[in-house]
Formats: sequence, C-alpha cells, structure tokens
Amino acid sequence: MPNEVRTTCAYCGVGCGIRARVTDVDQRQVQIEGDKLHPANLGRLCSKGSALGETLHLEGRCLHPRIQGKRASWKEATRFIADRFNALIADGGPEQIGMYLSGQLLTEDYYVANKLMKGFIGSANVDTNSRLCMSSAVAGHKRTFGEDLVPACYEDLEIADLLILAGANLAWCHPVLHQRVLAARAANPDKRLVVIDPRRTASCDGADLHLQIRPGSDALLFSGVLLIMQARGRIDKAFVASCTLGLEDTLAETCRAFTALYLELTGAEPGDELSEDQVLRVLESHCDLPLDELNTFLTLVEQQPRMTTVFSMGINQASNGTDKVNSITNLHLALGRIGKPGAAPFSMTGQPNAMGGREVGGLSNQLAAHLPFNEAGIAALGEFWQAPNMVKGPGLPAVDLFEAVYDGRIKAIWIMGTNPVVSLPNTDRIKAALQRCPLVIVSECIQDSATAAYADVLLPATGWGEKDGTVTNSERRISRQRAFLPAAGEARPDWWALASVARDMGHEDAFDYDSSHEIFSEHARLSGHAQDVDGLGRVFDISQLGELSAEVYDALEPKQWPLPARSESATSDDVSRLCSSQWLLSHRAEIISLGSLIAPAEAKGTSHLRLNTGRIRDQWHTMTRTGLAPRLNRHIDEPFVTIHISDAASRDIRSGDFVRLSNNWGDAVVKAQISADGRPGELFMPMHWSEQFARRSGCNALVAPLVDPVSAQPDNKGSSVDVTRIPRAEVSWRGFVVSKVKLPLPEMPYAARIRCEGGYRLELAGTEAQWLNLEKNLNATDPATIESNDSFRGDVRRICLQDGQLVHASFRCLMKDAGPNRLFLESALLRTHETQDEVLTLLAGRASDGIDCGAIVCACLSVGERTLEAAVLDGAQTVNALSLATRAGTNCGSCLPELKRFL
Ligand code: SF4
Ligand code: FES
Repeated sequence: MPNEVRTTCAYCGVGCGIRARVTDVDQRQVQIEGDKLHPANLGRLCSKGSALGETLHLEGRCLHPRIQGKRASWKEATRFIADRFNALIADGGPEQIGMYLSGQLLTEDYYVANKLMKGFIGSANVDTNSRLCMSSAVAGHKRTFGEDLVPACYEDLEIADLLILAGANLAWCHPVLHQRVLAARAANPDKRLVVIDPRRTASCDGADLHLQIRPGSDALLFSGVLLIMQARGRIDKAFVASCTLGLEDTLAETCRAFTALYLELTGAEPGDELSEDQVLRVLESHCDLPLDELNTFLTLVEQQPRMTTVFSMGINQASNGTDKVNSITNLHLALGRIGKPGAAPFSMTGQPNAMGGREVGGLSNQLAAHLPFNEAGIAALGEFWQAPNMVKGPGLPAVDLFEAVYDGRIKAIWIMGTNPVVSLPNTDRIKAALQRCPLVIVSECIQDSATAAYADVLLPATGWGEKDGTVTNSERRISRQRAFLPAAGEARPDWWALASVARDMGHEDAFDYDSSHEIFSEHARLSGHAQDVDGLGRVFDISQLGELSAEVYDALEPKQWPLPARSESATSDDVSRLCSSQWLLSHRAEIISLGSLIAPAEAKGTSHLRLNTGRIRDQWHTMTRTGLAPRLNRHIDEPFVTIHISDAASRDIRSGDFVRLSNNWGDAVVKAQISADGRPGELFMPMHWSEQFARRSGCNALVAPLVDPVSAQPDNKGSSVDVTRIPRAEVSWRGFVVSKVKLPLPEMPYAARIRCEGGYRLELAGTEAQWLNLEKNLNATDPATIESNDSFRGDVRRICLQDGQLVHASFRCLMKDAGPNRLFLESALLRTHETQDEVLTLLAGRASDGIDCGAIVCACLSVGERTLEAAVLDGAQTVNALSLATRAGTNCGSCLPELKRFL
C-alpha cells in the first residue's frame, strides 16, 4: 500500500480532493492536506476535512462480525443472512426484505446493493438516507428535464453576477465552496450575494441581502418573482418558445393562486389582471418580507442575467419540497438562465456520494443508470444483469420502509453505513420498529453506533482510508476514494459483504466480483447499454470508462459526467454544464404548474414553536466519525436549541438553561441558546447528537413523519414543539467530569459526553441524589482524591490523581456560573502534576497565569472568544488583522465568517 495517496473527503457533497500521507501505519498516524490538483477544492479543506486524520484510530471500531452479540466468522455471518433471506423469499415473498443504504457508501457498494435487491432478491424496498437529503431535488429535476440532471458546476458560483443561496448555509455545510465564493467576491466587488433563509446564518455575513423568509414560503416567493418578471417583460420569449413547455399554463395557474391569496388577504378582488403591487402585497404578507427588501431582490434578479441559485436542505426538506425546487427551475427557465456560464439552478447535495447513489438507482423509485422505472427500463436492466427476479415497480421510500418494518410487512432489514434511529423523523418509532423486526443486519464501522444496538447481525465495514472505489460530487464529478490504511480487524468493503451474501444465496456468477474496479466497469458499461432503451437516450453516460484496465482505474483523475463512448451521444464537448439551449431544443424542459406554493406545516398548539433542524460547522451527520476528533468538538460541544429572545422571555428561559422540548412524537432535553438570529416563533436544533454522545437530545425524536407527496422526502423543518425550562428541583446543580477513560452517560436529566484531547468530558445536570450516585461511581472515597468544597455556594471540586496523573476531576456548582475552565482541565489529562502548586492549580480549575481563551471559535488553532476580543481591543480592525494577530482562520478558513462578529 503506498504511503501517500490522493483520495476524496469522507463528508459533504463538495467532494474535496485530499492528499493523505501515512507517517506511522501501526499507529494509524496520517497527515492530511488538500489536493491542489483536485478541481473541487484546489487545495482547500474545511475544519472537518482537515481533522480526518484524528478519526482513523481503532478506538470504538467494529472489528469482527457478530450474530446475536456473539463473535462469528464472515462465512457464518453471510451464510446466516443468505439462509434467512432465502427462507423469507420462499415463505411470503421477497418484499419482506428491505435495505436502507447511505450517501456515504461508495458507488460500487451502492451498485451491488441495488443489483442484489432489485434484480436477484426481487424487492425494490431498498432506499437510502439520501431520501432525507435531496430526493426533492431529484423529483424536481425529473419533472423538469425528464432525467435527474444537475445543470451547473462549481465555477458557476464564482462567475455568477448574482448568487442566490436559497435554504443553503454554505458557510457551514459546504465550507470550501463558500470559501470559493468569498474569494470570487473579493476579486469582483460587483458580484451580488443574496441569502434566503429564515435564520441569520454564517452565510449571511457579507451578503448584500438577507431575505429572512417565513419558513415554507420559498415556492411562493420564486413564483411571485416569476409573475413580476413577466409583468416587467423579462421573460426570455425566444428561449421559452424553443426550449421549454408549459410556461403559459404555469403562469395562469400561479396567477390564480396569487389572486386567491390576495382576495383572502384583503377581501378585495384584484381586478382583471393581477398587478405587480398586488403580487408584492401577497409576498410581503405570506413570506413576511419587507417591501423594500423584496424590491431590492427583484431589481437584482431583473438586472443580473448571470444568476445562479444554489439550493439545499432548506428547499428540499419540506412537505412541498419538490414544488419549491420547481419554483426555482421555473424561474431560471422562464428567464433563459440555464446551461450558460454563471446561470443555472444548482442543487447541492449534503453527502459525499449522494450523486453516485442516484447514478446506480439508490432510491426505491429509481433504477440504475437513470433508466425509467417502467416495463422497458426493467426489461433492459434485467437483460444486462441476466437477473432472474427483476422487480415489477418502485418500492417503499424511507419513512414508509420503516413503517413496514414496524407493522411486520418487512421482516428483515439490512442497514448499511447510516444511523436511522438518530436521523429519520420520529426516531422513537424507528427504534420500536427495529426492536420488533425479526432480523436486523447492520453494516457499520463503529461498534456502538445507536443503530448497531439493534443489530441481530453486525458486520464490520471498512472505513474511510480503508475503502477503495468512487464517489460523485454535487457537480457530477466522479473521483476516486483510495485506501491508504489496512482494514481494521476483519472489516470488509460493503460490496464484498453484499456479494458474499448474494453468492451464498445461489447467485454465484452475477456476483463474482474480486475488486471495486470490476464493479465500476460493469456500472459504466450499463450506462452505455441504457442509452438504447426506449429510443430516448440518457445524459448519464459514462460508458467511456467501461473498459478501463485496473491500473487506469487506480489512477483515474476526477471526471465529470457525461462521458459517452460514442461521440454522437455527446451533449457537447464541454460537459461542465448541462441543459444548453442547443440540447433543450430537442429535450424541451417543462415549466411546472405547482400544486403547493406554501408548505403545509404540522398543526400546532397555541404554545408551540416551529422547529427547524440542521447542521453545525464542525460536525457531520450523527457524529460517529467527527465526534471522535477532539478538535471538532471545541467549537460547539453540547446539544442545544436556539430560541428567539422574545419566545425565551415569555417562557422565562435564559441562555444556558436546560429546557425540555416535547410534542406528540417525542421529547428532548438540551441547553437553551438565546438569540435574535432566528425569527420569533421558531427554534433551531442541530441534527447531530445521538445517545452515543448525549442522553435524549436528538432533534429527530420531535420531527413529524410528514413527507413531500411527490418526492417522499421528510419535512425536517416544520414540526411543532413545546419548550419549557426544566425546574430547579430536577436540575439543582450543573457540573462536569473530565476523565482519562470513557465513562458511561449517567442517568440524569442532562448528560453529554465530549471526546477531548487526552480523554473525555461529561457535562451534567441533575438532582442531589444523582450527584451523590455519580460520586459513588467515580470512587470519590479513593485515598488519592483531593477535594475542595464551598458549602455556602454548594460548589464541590474533586480531583483524583495516580502517580501524578489526573485520572478524573469532577466539578459542580449550584449557581449558574459556567464553572472552571474546561480546556485547561482537559489539557491537564495530558500532563503530570507533582508539586503542591500544580495540584492546587488543578483544584482551582484554571491556569495560574489566569489565561482563559473562552469558547473556541477557531477549532484548528484553538483560538477562543476572549483572545479574539483582546486582539480587537488591541487594534485589530479587519478580519485579516484579526487573523494575523491570533492565527484564527489561517488553517482551513472555516471560522473566517465568524471572525466578523468580533469586529
Ligand atoms: S467542504 Fe469540508 S467536508 Fe466538504 S468535502 Fe470539502 S473538506 Fe470535506
Ligand atoms: S477552524 Fe480551521 S482555521 Fe479556524
């Protein structure tokens, strides 16, 4: 295995290239840096990508197969699964088998899973967590272009004169792309940036306009802009006439919807023709946006033909997500702003290989190679695979899939590389479903992931750095992920586990794969085979890569599709953009009449607030990997809910209070963060925390299983939740423990575990009895324990030393102060403490020089708020000066947007 490889990041859909250099293979020490040759990032990495080297150790890894908790050989495990699958097929049919996959699988894993399920088991009940991420975009693309096509490329974000971020916090969720945008703005002061988001996010820093829209009204906004552009004569008539269908009907339908809303709003008929002012009145009221901001936005749209609209979860995750997507594509098509440099609608995917999953038919309503899920598509695929049990039609999407597990229609589910008991809506129901299911198979890297707890069969999967294959990023660029470390224990690639089960089921020839190269070649050849089906052809074509030798596949440079083998299939020489006017002449795009301009939200009680969920800067999904990297736990280390100041005041909640959130679906306990960044009546909770890291703090326990009727994507941003402060009787103290070893999360109203340098920290709150119990468990009576109590304040400080090494330290206070400095005590786990002074310093919980840098802003270089504030007082007046003075932002740059708030 070479000790330096070029590979691709494990996290978001930007798909950054990475150079990984192994410095100590036994200790799994690896240096990570951005790949300057990769077109997605040109050498940049964000905080998550930069910290990948900290996540490669074997701690917590799943190393061996297990059946019912007992170690088993791979042979026993795959035979066990195959026998059970065959028995279910014989007794009740293949639909009793389900699979739930992940946008973090490699394309080769995804391909084999779908081939096994849809062609050989004969069940289309195979879906992926990408359903939660971008299935509304897929459905929107298919309605518009007839195929799941992303027309744009990253360069469009840089060269657009008007960049609109709709429901996309690029600064935190796609940070490297955001850095590219910031650099482009610095080079071109005339470039305009508009953010449409109910929250003020890091992406708003430096934006020309932030439309703090009412959640769920985006489709109304884009449709209103379409009506006004028509009234102002801005429709590109020639383009519309030759390249699109449906504009007139859509305009008439939109007009009718606005007329009804205007009537409802004012009680007055708008007259024969809806005027611009009347449309604006509807937008002002329903989107809750000031007229001057609406007018500024309209002027920008009118005057900047090079307009790119980037959209992500704020658009897709809605009960009208597909309509929201199409409101954006409609506007771009009507204005002729598509398929041109700097002008396109652009769906950003959340996961590293959501796009690769779409290529191989990862969703239950897709077939591989973008084939239509109809008789012709099924027949073509069956012929190519020589498959004996081709499915007859689409299967169940994620939420319905787990409902079928719950009610017993599905009796065996194989979950691969994802954590549905944390990430799906209504998580209590998902847990109950897995509890009831006769056979749960989990393929995982992490031994104690929240979902692995339900596994009857646990299969160890290779992780990042051990896997070998391909991923496709948001701009359709296929890149190699390459292995540079040996597999942990008996971990195997997911494609290998799938193929082994398939062979044990009797499908030896069709799954006789020896390498990811063989699978990729078959996948690429299939895309060529799919071209001849139904005479329509498909843009997704990578058949040029179907005959690569193993050596050429190994060395494959990043490539954007399409890559047709036959020149007559080429869309154009430059494949960086799709949907050119020339292509649209023969593939007319549909301008879609929308069924739902405003997202229906869950019915709510009078005291309820609307819950928005999303990501934070330094964590990824359910933290199974990023939670292992101390550096990534410094920026935001505990689960929280952001509450608007007015809602907090009316509920007597202050920052740092523990609050309980509850509704019909479940409950959670987290810390309150009071802010004016959101809108009154709305809450924000991060999606990351699971019971692996905190007790009862996952947001998805509160998310209703409400889905978009077209895409079946859940609405993660519209659930209704009640919030109350937890009374002092339940949390009479707050405190923390730092410890060399991983301690279990104690039974308390609030308990969170944070991986830190040298060990772990528990943040806790509870009753007196719970504190006493905790002390008992920590062996507080150990002779090496030194303590200091302040009986007046009720504060307790205890440290336990062994040979000068800090074993654990526990601190609690009854008052609401934050307590001693966590970073200082965490770092004390790494030092010896011999002298009296050193021990007293430990008890004091702060360095003797009194330096406390405050909450960490720059995770890479541990620069805290107080250091930044001091630098500003010392004269730093710009982000550059602040960076220079403190070094914040000088590594990955992810924290740069946040430095502004100190100026
Ligand atoms: S932006 Fe960050 S998380 Fe996303 S691919 Fe690049 S380095 Fe990885
Ligand atoms: S977080 Fe990476 S440089 Fe600040």
